[in-house]
Amino acid sequence: MSDLPIPNLESLENTLGGLEGKRILVRCDFNVPLRDGAISDDLRIKAALPTLNWLLERGATVVACTHFGRPNGKPDPKFSVALLRTRVEELAPGVQLLENLRFDPGETGNSPEFVKYLIDGAGGLPFDGYVNDAFGVSHRSHASIVGPPGRLPSAAGRLLEKEIDVLGRMRSSPNRPFVAVLGGAKVSDKIGVIEALLSVVDRLLIGGGMCFTFLKALGYGIGDSLCEADQGETCKRILDSGASILLPSDITALSPDGDIGANSGEVRQMGRSIPDGWKGLDIGPGTAAAFGDVIHEARTVFWNGPMGTFEDPRFAAGTHAVSQALADTKAFTVVGGGDSAAAVAEIGLTPYMDHVSTGGGASLELLELGDLPGLIALRN
Ligand code: 3PG
Repeated sequence: MSDLPIPNLESLENTLGGLEGKRILVRCDFNVPLRDGAISDDLRIKAALPTLNWLLERGATVVACTHFGRPNGKPDPKFSVALLRTRVEELAPGVQLLENLRFDPGETGNSPEFVKYLIDGAGGLPFDGYVNDAFGVSHRSHASIVGPPGRLPSAAGRLLEKEIDVLGRMRSSPNRPFVAVLGGAKVSDKIGVIEALLSVVDRLLIGGGMCFTFLKALGYGIGDSLCEADQGETCKRILDSGASILLPSDITALSPDGDIGANSGEVRQMGRSIPDGWKGLDIGPGTAAAFGDVIHEARTVFWNGPMGTFEDPRFAAGTHAVSQALADTKAFTVVGGGDSAAAVAEIGLTPYMDHVSTGGGASLELLELGDLPGLIALRN
């Protein structure tokens, strides 16, 4: 991984000039989680407020736009932004919100016609300027991310600036020891970032579904746990690289007759070898304690991906223990969006983290590659 800092972006002050009466299009990432038909975590909406308020205070007409879910390029009431609009009106009165950008195939297809439609006003009056404050989707070359900067005076919003600053400094000059904790289901999704992180972290802790592909590569029986057979060689190569990697030493597993989320079957703590038919679904208490010790000694910690199937309370202990360890350590702590941010929010520990990123995929891609399509578009 290069230790070069991520290049600076144009800020709101430098690019947009006098704003009184100007129409500004703000690309946000309001792709928030829902539960029982209500927004369960509005972090992404609140995180855009500094930019939205800054523009409003200077007399701009502010029109926000976002994607919401993956509606496949056509209108679908399930993915309407109506709920989001209500929340935006409560938090930032005066800000308008366009309908889900992904109702048009031109958004994900990055079509020039859709870019033109957007900057021409998306059915209203043409825009005078554009702000990207959608860090969470800046790793996608979608029309609303990469199109407007070539056509309108454009700037990075406050949230985008903050994300780049925090993640960029962590990547190029972390206080040491620097520890990364990675979880989540798939090794294949994270190979790039694992390899990039190994060149910069002092220790990598691996939990979540992906630890079983590593344990299998070491020769342990993993029963019916998640495994990506085609990643075995890659895992071996990573383990043989001499990097300081800590894998689980014990596992919480579910018996063959059990179902996740159904409270059925037997749950047992076991060592690294899992019998046939059993499924490893969380790191065990010994591993949670060992991970906690390493996090306690660290000076910088980056965490992405839950340690187990935390939506079933029987397999949430590992993820909760890692959340608590991050909340308790003196290290600078960064939670890399997605499910880990949701887990931290669920147990009320968000205020104890130094930075909870609004981007899961985006933060991993930024750490891996050092740049994102949305940032490149703004710089050019
Ligand atoms: C996210 O939730 O990670 C972002 O909003 C990006 O969404 P996407 O993965 O559907 O592009």
